[in-house]
Amino acid sequence: MTSKTLTASPVALGTWAWGDSGEVGDGQFGSRLTESGLREVVEKAHSNGFTLWDTAVVYGMGRSETVLAQALKGYARSEYQLSTKFTPQAAGDGGNPVADMLEQSLDRLGTDYVDLYWIHNPADVARWTPLLIPLLRSGTIKHVGVSNHNLTQIALADQILGEAGFRVEAVQNHHSLLYRSSERAGILDHCREHDVRFFSYMVLEQGALTGRYSPAHPLPEGSDRAAVYNGILPRLQTLTDRMAAIGEDRGASAADVATAWAIAKGTTPIIGVTKAGYLDGLVRAHGIELADEEIAELETLADAADVDTRGWWEPGM
Ligand SMILES: NC(=O)c1ccc[n+]([C@@H]2O[C@H](COP(=O)([O-])OP(=O)(O)OC[C@H]3O[C@@H](n4cnc5c(N)ncnc54)[C@H](OP(=O)(O)O)[C@@H]3O)[C@@H](O)[C@H]2O)c1
Repeated sequence: MTSKTLTASPVALGTWAWGDSGEVGDGQFGSRLTESGLREVVEKAHSNGFTLWDTAVVYGMGRSETVLAQALKGYARSEYQLSTKFTPQAAGDGGNPVADMLEQSLDRLGTDYVDLYWIHNPADVARWTPLLIPLLRSGTIKHVGVSNHNLTQIALADQILGEAGFRVEAVQNHHSLLYRSSERAGILDHCREHDVRFFSYMVLEQGALTGRYSPAHPLPEGSDRAAVYNGILPRLQTLTDRMAAIGEDRGASAADVATAWAIAKGTTPIIGVTKAGYLDGLVRAHGIELADEEIAELETLADAADVDTRGWWEPGM
């Protein structure tokens, strides 16, 4: 990905959960992840060609970046790609808060460049976007994307970068069967038409759309995701049962079908991987071709669930 054009594996790997401390009741995910378990995740990912890792300063306030760097130790820097973010809400008050936050990320990640650098949300597009230009010029960041931006904000960021000879090469928004606002707002079409890569995050709705969790087996108590999703799990059952049935015909799981759906939409899913076994699912998902009728049926069931899974940090599209 150090080439002029942004290229990346068909699925990116998310590490928000890697920022959890592991303490019960303290964290977004409530998952108990170990250093050796995450090393296995990395090894299995790389041996299957999944080499783009997405993180952010705010995932555990630096912890996700630090843990990711540890897990990647021993691999040549050219063997994997790093995607991390400038989060405006966490900006310092120095002369160039973007360069300062990036510097800290580089330090934690143990590298001197980031392949794909994001503005995490559109707090003030005109203020933050220009600060990416010197970083692109120096090669400290190779490619730029914007996250949680609407169409107008994407266009403004692109115009600002365009004046310096660069462009917005990627968009990263919440996009799942249950949350399709980027599609409805025309952002997917825009990306397709302008050769901008669209990365879908929370395709599995943090586990709620994997079929692994149910009212009888809820998300880990005390975690933030449990507070958001446990109450709606009964309404997701018909959808996840159908996803499981569609998967079964292909030797795949409901989670694999969710990921295959995001790929069928022409997007690059960023899947939060916490266990090495989940990599087998990504390989399967990559090989699944859903029929148009299956996609339509799943979307109808998703709409019928009538849930709003917009994250607290997400502006409307
Ligand atoms: N730009 C933004 O504002 C933003 C916001 C949110 C996320 N993101 C990015 O997108 C990534 C993905 O989102 P996410 O991690 O929040 O949620 P996600 O990908 O929707 O769900 C991840 C969870 O699903 C479960 N899972 C993963 N693969 C599975 C499989 N094959 N089978 C069964 N269960 C599976 C795991 O839960 P268990 O550990 O419980 O099994 C995991 O913690 C993040 O890590 C982050 O990099 C970006």
